[in-house]
Amino acid sequence: HVAGEIEADQVLLTEKQVLDRLGEMAAQIEADYEGKDLLLVGVLKGAVMVMADLARSLNRHVEMDWMAVSSYGSGTKSSGVVRILKDLDTDIKDRHVLVVEDIIDTGLTLSWLITNLKSRGPASVEIATLLRKPEAVTMDVDVTYVGFDIPNAFVVGYGLDYDEKYRNLRCIGTLSPHVYS
Ligand code: PRP
Ligand code: MN
Ligand code: MG
Repeated sequence: HVAGEIEADQVLLTEKQVLDRLGEMAAQIEADYEGKDLLLVGVLKGAVMVMADLARSLNRHVEMDWMAVSSYGSGTKSSGVVRILKDLDTDIKDRHVLVVEDIIDTGLTLSWLITNLKSRGPASVEIATLLRKPEAVTMDVDVTYVGFDIPNAFVVGYGLDYDEKYRNLRCIGTLSPHVYS
């Protein structure tokens, strides 16, 4: 039982904290993209909840598309291998693209993805991520919108998984090491 399991763990961010912060990020995005078309690109599967709530916080028209890239497989460590599992349906040439992510951990996934997207000739590519871990701050990835800088713990919930579980938690919690070690 999902709710029962997370009770034993630490809640890092409540659903309200997440939604309030996404509202602030949405206000900033509205201001920055005023008068421009905007294509949100969600990175499956982790970003589904962030995309749903961020997009609905935006008081303007946006388009949404999705890419599936995976660097983690079923473990808790980045494998270093990024694979495209599903590409965009949209031609992003001359479009303003905002990549929506749940978390930047090592930064590997996004640095690879941004290089890939920029090669397609978009008008702009920026990143919005709900969470960012310490290691990513030192990476060469420019992140325009960051919800929360968080400690270096393994976090689950609100789209984030461990072995495909916990994505449907409303809050974001840290997973006890005994669950994955
Ligand atoms: C997770 C997370 C980010 C990425 C961050 O995705 O959702 O996309 O890892 O890690 P990095 O900064 O170290 O590259 P994952 O590959 O687990 O796929 P998922 O979204 O389907 O869970
Ligand atoms: Mn992901
Ligand atoms: Mg994952």
